[in-house]
Amino acid sequence: MKLFIDTANIQDIREMASYGIVSGVTTNPSLIAKEGRKLEDVIHEIVSLVDGPISAEVAEGKCEDMVNQAIPLSKIHKNIVIKLPMTWEGIKACKILTSKGIHTNVTLCFSVSQALLAMEAGATYLSPFMGRLDDAGFEAEELIQDIVTVRDNYGYETKLIAASIRNLHHLEIASLAGADIATIPTAVFKKMVEHPLTEKGLQIFADAAKGVK
Ligand code: G3P
Repeated sequence: MKLFIDTANIQDIREMASYGIVSGVTTNPSLIAKEGRKLEDVIHEIVSLVDGPISAEVAEGKCEDMVNQAIPLSKIHKNIVIKLPMTWEGIKACKILTSKGIHTNVTLCFSVSQALLAMEAGATYLSPFMGRLDDAGFEAEELIQDIVTVRDNYGYETKLIAASIRNLHHLEIASLAGADIATIPTAVFKKMVEHPLTEKGLQIFADAAKGVK
């Protein structure tokens, strides 16, 4: 499973990328707004930090406007992926951008029907939102499993990005359900290495090492 970081914070991206396990970055309008910066400026910096797919989301509602915003964004760097909303206009834009060879990530996916639309439109990536589905009382694991099954049944090449990951449980069930990628917020990413028994074990080894000195 590839691990992407879900943030627009440059310091966080730099720190997590330094461990060598970050394969891509996803942003969205809320994450960009949190940084108080222009999307293009943030994206320019991110592409210099991570050599992998970098999702930049369009803020327009109409297909033509989405395409017009997407084209200059895609020219910033070869790794740019245009994030599009799961709407009819977004699906239409996905088809157009795909035909131009521009990579896309259809976001806000909550059902197999929506996934089918994005995959038929040629989406490079599809982002089912686990946390928000959980919030609404639905099984996120089942959705990921079902989309993987449908994708494989028909040989679509769309890669699944498990998104809206709020905790390690979401991450772990996404990997068990067969998501290709998980995009992980920094706070959850940092927790991945932690386990109380690891900490206890380290303490035991550290004490033992002192004893032999
Ligand atoms: O990747 C999408 C993600 O940023 C949304 O997360 O926690 O706002 O549902 P959340």
